[in-house]
Amino acid sequence: MRKVLVIHGPNLNLLGEREPNIYGKVTLEEINQDLQEGARKNDIELRIVQSNHEGEIVETIQNSRHWADVFIINPAAYTHTSVAIRDALSAVTVPTIEVHLSNIHAREGFRQASHVSPVAAGVIAGFGKNSYLLALEAATKIALPEKKK
Ligand code: DQA
Repeated sequence: MRKVLVIHGPNLNLLGEREPNIYGKVTLEEINQDLQEGARKNDIELRIVQSNHEGEIVETIQNSRHWADVFIINPAAYTHTSVAIRDALSAVTVPTIEVHLSNIHAREGFRQASHVSPVAAGVIAGFGKNSYLLALEAATKIALPEKKK
């Protein structure tokens, strides 16, 4: 049974009321419910966290490095600013799938650069809630490093 940790970054707790023209009306709770259902169907053990704090996300990555087989992370605004989250991800050997609800490449210039993408196994962006569900599917297929500590 693969163990997957989903990390939602800052302001994603406000989904549903936050800029619905960009992010849709779906709430984080609805996304999480669909992820849990997808996990049950795919025999995945799922943990989900949301944090508005960069250091907390760094600590979650560090503390989960022996538990998780795969990380799915939407670093939200930290995508574009956080060397610390990128360094945490490259410090651990857990394959990471970067997710965005919106297509960051079709938005403002500052959103088109990601500190996380170069250390991610892959990136899924632009499909709203389905970005997460596609990432969950990818998490069932992604090659895992040979030895897990
Ligand atoms: C986001 C895109 C980021 O640029 C933005 O800061 C977010 C959400 C997305 O899921 O589309 O908060 O990561």
